[in-house]
Amino acid sequence: MAKRSIETTLTEEDIKIEGSLRPQFLKDYIGQKKAKETLKIYIEAAKQRNDPLDHVLFYGPPGLGKTTLAGIIANEMGVHIKTTSGPAIEKPGEMAAILNNLQEGDILFVDEIHRLNRQVEEVLYPAMEDYAIDIMIGKGASARSIRLDLPKFTLVGATTRVGLLTAPLRDRFGVIHRLEFYTPEELTTIIMHSAKILNVHIDEKGAKELARRSRGTPRLANRLLKRVRDFAQIRYDGDITYDVAKDALDLMDVDRMGLDHVDRNLILTMIKKFDGGPVGLDTIAAAIGEDSGTIEDVYEPYLIQNGFLNRTPRGRVATKSAYEHFGIPFAESES
Ligand SMILES: Nc1ncnc2c1ncn2[C@@H]1O[C@H](COP(=O)(O)OP(=O)(O)O)[C@@H](O)[C@H]1O
Ligand SMILES: [Mg+2]
Repeated sequence: MAKRSIETTLTEEDIKIEGSLRPQFLKDYIGQKKAKETLKIYIEAAKQRNDPLDHVLFYGPPGLGKTTLAGIIANEMGVHIKTTSGPAIEKPGEMAAILNNLQEGDILFVDEIHRLNRQVEEVLYPAMEDYAIDIMIGKGASARSIRLDLPKFTLVGATTRVGLLTAPLRDRFGVIHRLEFYTPEELTTIIMHSAKILNVHIDEKGAKELARRSRGTPRLANRLLKRVRDFAQIRYDGDITYDVAKDALDLMDVDRMGLDHVDRNLILTMIKKFDGGPVGLDTIAAAIGEDSGTIEDVYEPYLIQNGFLNRTPRGRVATKSAYEHFGIPFAESES
């Protein structure tokens, strides 16, 4: 499958640029008003009491600012952050070692936390609840477990698939936030700000057009900005205007709603092969040759949010807006 220009998961290129574009403090973090306001209160309260912050879980589609928020929490609390991820930790002993090396108040950021294996996850239960780990010493009949105290730390977890988190782990987070897609206005602000850092000229209409096609996702907005910058430099005089943005994005196959060939293929397959649905997720996945989990967590949320697709108990349904977007006549269903 061709690489998507609107891929929202992290690519190598992003890692290079995101460092400079990532906001460091809450005041610079655009949007996510609810998460921001509540975090601000929890952070202030914890600082006043001289306590570590409660464990925090962020979930939502890729590129919405989960990792960024973890870093911001560390900066606001004035503590170190240690970053790891679910698939990176294979053995309980590795998790125990990481926990044991933390300092009082530190943040442990576990990305893709739904991918921790069960034994590793179990180390976290007493760690999160009592700031302790249980270690087995000895073998066979003489084996016994001793409890080791840990520094008081804050676990910040991030996941795109909150549904895969086990209940015992989820229940140990004091604060759980779902990150929302950004409005075009918020994305415009982010784009204008990034343009300044990247030293690109972009006018407001150009930024708005980019924002509209960035499927509510800052990571994508930043990536499209960079692509359009190249385009502006080679084909135009370097400045990004509405026309430049529009031309570049059309060429990149990102349509006026931010949909690309994968989205279009998904929706058109539903309409043409399955009469618009209802059709089961696995059936769609097989039909377009994509992984159903990826469809569910990466492609669908934006399509649902924008009213192109509905989840029903009987399966996925393409909406009237989807038909209209593709200029296909919509027949009201009789069922
Ligand atoms: N609220 C925000 N304000 C400004 N830029 C943001 C915001 N959220 C995310 N970004 C930008 O998007 C990029 C991706 O965010 P990231 O935190 O890595 O997403 P996630 O971890 O949810 O996949 C960041 O590097 C940053 O440049
Ligand atoms: Mg991340």
